[in-house]
Parts: sequence; structure tokens; C-alpha cells
Amino acid sequence: MDPGEPPWYTFDREDVSPGGEQIDPVKMSEPARSARVLAVVNQKGGVGKTTTAVNLAASIAASEHPTLLVDLDPQANASSAFGVHEPELQIYDSLLEECAMLEATHATDLSHLHLVPSGEDLVGAEIELVTAERREHRLRDALAPVRPHYDFVLIDCPPSLGLLTLNALAAADAVLIPLQCEYYALEGLARLLRTVDRIRGSLNPQLEVEGIILTMVDLRSNLARQVAAEARQHFEDQVFTTTIPRNVRLSEAPSHGKPVLLYDIHSKGAAAYMRLAAEFLSRQTEAGSPRKPPLLPIRDARREAAFGDEPAAAAPGGSREEEE
Ligand SMILES: Nc1ncnc2c1ncn2[C@@H]1O[C@H](COP(=O)(O)OP(=O)(O)OP(=O)(O)O)[C@@H](O)[C@H]1O
Ligand SMILES: [Mg+2]
Repeated sequence: MDPGEPPWYTFDREDVSPGGEQIDPVKMSEPARSARVLAVVNQKGGVGKTTTAVNLAASIAASEHPTLLVDLDPQANASSAFGVHEPELQIYDSLLEECAMLEATHATDLSHLHLVPSGEDLVGAEIELVTAERREHRLRDALAPVRPHYDFVLIDCPPSLGLLTLNALAAADAVLIPLQCEYYALEGLARLLRTVDRIRGSLNPQLEVEGIILTMVDLRSNLARQVAAEARQHFEDQVFTTTIPRNVRLSEAPSHGKPVLLYDIHSKGAAAYMRLAAEFLSRQTEAGSPRKPPLLPIRDARREAAFGDEPAAAAPGGSREEEE
């Protein structure tokens, strides 16, 4: 056996990439350390969870940090934002232990970003898991084998505090909370923080608040300015300095199956999420946790077709994508 290609991990399922292309069995090099897992959560609907999960994950990955985005919402908006619709294997199969997380992992147009998509089946999971063993820990258990191969795992949560969100909170190291600056936003936030406290006392004593992200900010609105000021006054440096403006490119990008930085890199939305990623990463370094594990070398047949790449095996401590 080639010593440069240890068979740490293989899977033999074909056809798991977004376009339905074949993905060869993967071989992964030795894990370095575990990804930081972040649940993007807010029980309020339409506050920018998915937009943040998709574009922050893409921007972190653009900084060459191997990143996994897990779509944990039956609405599957994060999946369609990457052009993935009703995939054969998805997060549901992994939660129900019908496949390993790796088998449901898809390549994306960004070489350092992988996606575990969702679909309608996930609606049933909340009910099917009710009587299951370790029902709140299914996601944590499923993520365990892939965690060492990423720097960050971002989980896009549904707008509820049901069993799916509980799974995200049990699996996460920290929560990222998008907050839309509107009436009642702070009341909703207080409720969410009480839930985080309760989770700390039960399912996950280590759970932290990574930060609060002000989304869809329109500084011409008095109310938005007032809510932003109150959030900063109460939560101080837990609120990210970077704010996300309302930007039409951010709302258009998903219908093109792309994160905003691939749809319109020059837009204000793309710039804001790149700044947010930089601030997020600088906070990680401040916390003394810079990471560079080997990239999980999932083959992306679309890239190979587009750029005429030859498929190549992963080198120890690196990968084909890193060498490009
Ligand atoms: N900064 C922004 N500027 C303009 N539109 C935005 C912005 N952020 C989000 N949107 C749009 O607002 C809507 C809700 O955003 P998003 O889907 O990210 O929220 P969500 O919290 O994930 O919603 P849900 O609770 O339904 O999952 C979407 O149509 C999205 O395109
Ligand atoms: Mg969403």
C-alpha cells in the first residue's frame, strides 16, 4: 500500500455529489483535531439564519479553512442555496443511522466547503426520533467521525426549539445567533438564551454563546438603530462588530444555487460576510485555537470536468484541492 494513502476512511457509495456525479472512494489522512461546531440558531423565523450559515460558511471556507455546513432544517434552504434538491442521501439518513455522515456529504463549488443537505424527509425525523435511543444526541454521534477533518462545522437550524434544534444544541460547542433588528427581537433573544442555559444544565454543559450577529440592518431605520444599540448595551462584545446590511444580492444568490461570494463578489452582502468571517476567525485565534486539519478529499467531478483536473489522491497533511 502507498504509505501516502492510508485508508483511514473509505466509502463505496457512488453518486453523492450535487450534480449526481460519481465520487470515488475517499481516503483521508490522519485527523489533526476536532472541528469547532457552531449551531446557527434562533427560534424566530426569517431572521437570516440560513443566509448567515451559507455565507459565513462559504466565507470561512474561502479563507481555506475546511468547513462543513449541515442543513438541519426540513425547509432545506441551505441545500437549495447550493443547488442541491432532494438528494438521495441526506442528514435524515444519517440521524436515523441509515448511513454515515460522510456518505451524505456533498462537495460544493468551494473546494474547502462541504455540505450535508436536507430534504422533506427530515420533517418525519422529529416524530421518528421521539422514541429512539439517545434521541437528542443523534447529530453529535453522527458528526463524531467527520469532525476531525474540518476546522468548523456550521449547523443551519429550523425556526423552532424542537428535537432537531435540541440535537444541534447538544452537538454544538457554541451558538451563533442571527438577530434581526426589529420589534420584539430582544424578547426572542432572551428566550433563546434561557434555552441555551437550560441545555447547559442538561444536554451539553460546554455550550457557549459564540456571538450575536445583527442581520438585515438598515441604519436609516430608527428602530433598527435602537435595537442594535440595546443589543450592544446588554450583550456587549458578544455582539459581532460586523453587521450584515440588507442587500438584494444576498436574497438573489440562493436562486442561482450559489453563496453570495460566487454570485456577486463585489456586492455589499459578500463584503459583509467576508468581514464577518474575518472577525469570527480572529476571535478563534484570540481564543488560542487556530486549526488546520487535513482537508477531507471528496472528489468533485464538476470541477474536474470544468478545469480538466486529473483526480489525485490526498497527500498526507494536505489534499488535491490544497495543491491547486
Ligand atoms: N441581509 C439580507 N439582505 C436582504 N435579504 C436578506 C438578508 N438576509 C436574509 N435575507 C432574506 O430574508 C429571507 C429570510 O432569510 P433566511 O432564510 O436566511 O432566514 P431564516 O432565519 O433562515 O428563515 P427560517 O426561519 O425560515 O429558516 C430570505 O428571503 C433571505 O433571502
Ligand atoms: Mg432558514
